[in-house]
Amino acid sequence: MKWQEGIREGPKPCREQDQGRFEIVTRDGQARLGKIHTAHGIIETPCLLPVINPNIRTIEPREMWDKYGIQALITNSYVIWKHDKLKDVALADGVHKLIDYPGAIMTDSGTFQSYVYGDVEVGVEEIVQFQKDIGVDIATMLDVFTRPDMTFTQVEKAVDETVNRAHSSIETAEGVMLNGPIQGGLFPELRTKSAKEMSKLNFSVHPIGGIVPIMEQQKYRELAKIMLACKSNLTPNRPVHMFGCGHPMLFPMLIAMGADLFDSAAYVLFARDSRILTPWGTEKLSDIEEWPIIMPSISNFTPSEVRKMNKEDRTILLSRYNLEITLQELSRCRQAIRNGTIWRLAERRSHQHPALREAFLWLVTNPAVSTMEPLILDDYSSAKETGNERGRWEENWDWLVNAQFTPRNGGESWGGTDTHHRPHVEMARRRLFARWSSRKSGDVIVFHGNSAPWRDKIGDLIERICHLDYEIFIQTPLGLIPWGLEDLNPWAHIEGPDWLKKRRPDYAWLQRELERLGITDRKIITIDISDTEELHNRVFEMLGIEPTDRDKDAKNRSQIVDKLCVLYNVNVSDAIEICNDATFVMSRTGRIRNMIDSSGKHLFSPRLAEGGMSLTVDGARILHSLRKLPMPEGFNVDYSQNPGHGPAWVVVNEDSEPFVQEGRNVMHGFVLACDPWIRPNEGVLVVNSAGKLLAYGRSQSTSSELDSFTKGIAIKVREGCP
Ligand code: GUN
Repeated sequence: MKWQEGIREGPKPCREQDQGRFEIVTRDGQARLGKIHTAHGIIETPCLLPVINPNIRTIEPREMWDKYGIQALITNSYVIWKHDKLKDVALADGVHKLIDYPGAIMTDSGTFQSYVYGDVEVGVEEIVQFQKDIGVDIATMLDVFTRPDMTFTQVEKAVDETVNRAHSSIETAEGVMLNGPIQGGLFPELRTKSAKEMSKLNFSVHPIGGIVPIMEQQKYRELAKIMLACKSNLTPNRPVHMFGCGHPMLFPMLIAMGADLFDSAAYVLFARDSRILTPWGTEKLSDIEEWPIIMPSISNFTPSEVRKMNKEDRTILLSRYNLEITLQELSRCRQAIRNGTIWRLAERRSHQHPALREAFLWLVTNPAVSTMEPLILDDYSSAKETGNERGRWEENWDWLVNAQFTPRNGGESWGGTDTHHRPHVEMARRRLFARWSSRKSGDVIVFHGNSAPWRDKIGDLIERICHLDYEIFIQTPLGLIPWGLEDLNPWAHIEGPDWLKKRRPDYAWLQRELERLGITDRKIITIDISDTEELHNRVFEMLGIEPTDRDKDAKNRSQIVDKLCVLYNVNVSDAIEICNDATFVMSRTGRIRNMIDSSGKHLFSPRLAEGGMSLTVDGARILHSLRKLPMPEGFNVDYSQNPGHGPAWVVVNEDSEPFVQEGRNVMHGFVLACDPWIRPNEGVLVVNSAGKLLAYGRSQSTSSELDSFTKGIAIKVREGCP
């Protein structure tokens, strides 16, 4: 049953100057695909560091490297330190030789042993020095474990003591990457304090500590609170590690909240008890006749054959099986980040376990006063806590929502009430409400009863009424949208059952939606477009008007004005002026391809895929010229939307100026300042410190990321502006 050494090449060390750095390669909200640069290779995150007990190696570390492609693992320096035999070899040959593993090695410090056994014999600096001496890639300081049953005062003492110990630990570690664990028990205030204090110090990674007993008791709601409190207060340029978390069921939710590393002995511990880890919970080998998931390790055996094996063989086989399932769920999460569907994966998984569902519902209903208001209420209302809890998490939730990008490619797959609470849907709605404003003073028309593409059903009618004094909206399953945004994701791209589009309008709900859009006290005319036969005449009759001629340009202009306001944060009067006397190049299907201004310059091109809009260099110049605010200063975090101030500006330093102007991307470390309303994937203008336009592009980052990262792409430049 033993693994034969394979032929996978050893790792390539990172560039010396990159050692210890973390960069984001792709993101989906706060979930990120990243790279940690170490002397024993680049660790691609999110990933699992399997726990290796140097005394009992159920799966050989070499097999982890060769067969499973594991880039990093974790072992315990205290265990090595305590056993002379291990200690001598580690000190003489290094930890990589000791456990026969060529990749990156993280070690823990003995804190967990002190939690289990009450104390450890090793000193604070001593254990860091030892980890350094045995050549680990990422060491851990001796933090003070905070248990969930501890009082506020006890936990605060532990948090303070951990910060105290951090100083000498960092000094001792010099040159070696060091873990700075975040403690704080069940108290969000203390998690916040710990995250803020530890962020100030020169750590490379921040593990979230003290969560093992919380996970053992399946208190996942508490885990979600801890995660939100820690992550939203930690500096974003350091990877976050979940100490002792290795159950695949928890990965999607934690990754969606920004977890980068996991470690766990669960794959072996559960195997010893003949239990199987699955993305939806744990199953007992004794209860199954079929494998829940077919994996290479068990493909030649039935569960009943495995039951008959001797304990050692069974443990090894089930450890491999558990590891394979765990790795598979991580692959799924990474792919979901690339696809922009990590929240949806977390949402789906939440339906598979009651404790996880409770955590998920807490997340989407309690942290903030949501703009989401499903047309049909269900158990969501009962998941809401009362009293102090609500509203208290607003900033933390804003941190998550404001990192979401919108519009997105691809459809919004309907998942019931959960759909309303997806953070990127919330982001889209917040942006709409903050940036869009009414341009008409007459009655409101709401079309309902049909699905996108609405232009196919009522485009012609709109051309005949849009120049009149009506504010025209469409009722979508995710709320009201102005007609001009009829092709914008997520509203226009909902994959769901037929009845969704047929919902009758609810008058009180319409009023609340309109209020959010800044419209009150107007007559609301609802028009059912489920049947488009005789629609024109019906509508003219309803409105009491004579049939009118078409005004295609009025329709096109209003679409561009809406997009300029909502997608580029342009002030409505500026947007109207830009579009004055514009002409349009249309596609064969009747959609706007290019907008040409009155002087003949091509400024904007709406994108067909998600209803967004691309700039040209001339378009960027026009938006740049609208700026009325002073230059941005520093990297303020402000989650309000700053409506009307145009696309965010990013100020770069002199060194990068010529490159950016040539159209090269802006790299982290070269940014001097940015506007606080910058968001990942939103259009930005890149300027020098005199405010001269250098380029336009898309931000990959939030302002605090621009402030803290030193590696990776900060802004993807679309075109330089010579
Ligand atoms: N392993 C599991 N939990 C912890 C923790 O809180 N601190 C450390 N150092 N190791 C852990």
